[in-house]
Amino acid sequence: MEMMELEGKVHDESRQGEAFNPLMNENANFKKRFYIESYGCAMNFADSEVVASILNGEGFGATKLPDEADLILINTCSIREKAEMTVRKRLTEFRSLKKKKPGMLIGMLGCMAERLKAQLLEEEKLVDLVVGPDAYRSLPSLIEEAETGQKAVNVLLSRDETYGDIAPIRLDSNGVCAFVSIMRGCNNMCSFCVVPFTRGRERSRDANSILVEVEQLFATGYREVTLLGQNVDSYYWIDEKNDETITFAKLLERVALVSPLLRVRFSTSHPKDITDEVLYTIARYDNICNYIHLPVQSGSSRVLQLMNRTYTREWYIAKVNRIREILPNCGLSTDMITGFCTETEEDHRESYTLMEYCKYDLAYMYYYSERPGTLAERRYEDDIPEEVKKRRLQEIIALHRIHSLESMQRDVNKTFKVLIEANSKKSDTDWHGRTDHNKVVIFPKENYNLNKGDYIDVFIHSCTAGTLLGKIVDKQ
Ligand code: SAM
Ligand code: SF4
Ligand code: F3S
Repeated sequence: MEMMELEGKVHDESRQGEAFNPLMNENANFKKRFYIESYGCAMNFADSEVVASILNGEGFGATKLPDEADLILINTCSIREKAEMTVRKRLTEFRSLKKKKPGMLIGMLGCMAERLKAQLLEEEKLVDLVVGPDAYRSLPSLIEEAETGQKAVNVLLSRDETYGDIAPIRLDSNGVCAFVSIMRGCNNMCSFCVVPFTRGRERSRDANSILVEVEQLFATGYREVTLLGQNVDSYYWIDEKNDETITFAKLLERVALVSPLLRVRFSTSHPKDITDEVLYTIARYDNICNYIHLPVQSGSSRVLQLMNRTYTREWYIAKVNRIREILPNCGLSTDMITGFCTETEEDHRESYTLMEYCKYDLAYMYYYSERPGTLAERRYEDDIPEEVKKRRLQEIIALHRIHSLESMQRDVNKTFKVLIEANSKKSDTDWHGRTDHNKVVIFPKENYNLNKGDYIDVFIHSCTAGTLLGKIVDKQ
């Protein structure tokens, strides 16, 4: 697949859009049906679940089939040009569906809606409604407006919207793992990044509402939550009732205390903000996964400065050393960009050697894509030819493949506690689960009476590049 070749591991951001499974009753008497397809990061997928909840409150049911829908929604991503091209292609396909079913409405949600505002509605007439990430509460009135043929646009960004009071409806869920948004927006002006413009200012969600959501998830059988934010370490909430400041470390602890049977993950940490307090909290609780996603973006201090990442190569390496000191067995992943403005072969070499030093378990790698309106677009020339960006990307992908295979091989002949998530895609007689390091494990069900959501010790006897293969450890 071209995307895999060029972008390395498929990241949340480059995940292809998926038609969500409707959780709503197929036979229920819904007023209308919507179809939603989501692109981009986990936060967008979590937002689609908030949208589903809002629409459900208006009497809408979901459908897996776009041609059955009265309302098609596409929750979009602007992070790289390619992400936007994919959405445009999909919109033209939806447009031809609408020709066959004229009453159908097509709506664009998410970051591309925020970036392009009314352009796709007015100039290109590709959609009927445009709704930015902070305006989903206005969806019902916008749908009404669009139904009467009016232009329905709301792209206002908010300083305090967190949708904290809306219980998301889990859509494409295995019933075991769920995303929980703990904050929105981003205040870090990384020069390459469009997110601060599409998602607005950073704001943290009420800790109590996060805990209520997590408790409800646990009570309904979920056994893993991933706390989501663009920069989770700057989470900050003042609990006025108890006169207490809740930092990310405190939130993590509170979520972990919901139950020892609940696995807790989080993403994304910024190297400048992750604290020892967070690392010690991970060390204290068995159910907080020993795994940190610590995007570096470049191994060159000069490029990092142009990127406005506010740390140097040495600072980053010191952070990684600190993580390994406090959490010796911690899994580590990263994001890396090749071919950022002015990147020399020497800078590229520094990214390469940094990866050799860190030996990431997982890396999401991209070549630089200039985004309109970002600091880099305004200040620097996008001067690295595309073939150079891609060649450098291939070089770091090749290096990372060696590290990720080594990481998988290190787990062979060891036993891991695995959370069972579902049947294996290839066979109903095998389970699909994950280790604390987020590695997929496939193992035969045998005659054990297990269910998804259960934990089981699995001995790993072999591996492929992306999967551990094992056998249940018989405890009797
Ligand atoms: N907030 C996280 C962080 O600070 O790393 C994630 C931000 S973004 C949603 C995910 C990744 O996309 C980034 O870490 C970066 O590697 C990549 N990315 C962002 N803007 C990009 C661009 N203009 N071109 C290529 N990759 C980009
Ligand atoms: Fe973008 Fe930087 Fe914010 Fe991450 S921290 S979302 S890369 S601006
Ligand atoms: Fe994409 Fe927006 Fe997420 S630009 S990566 S969907 S915050």
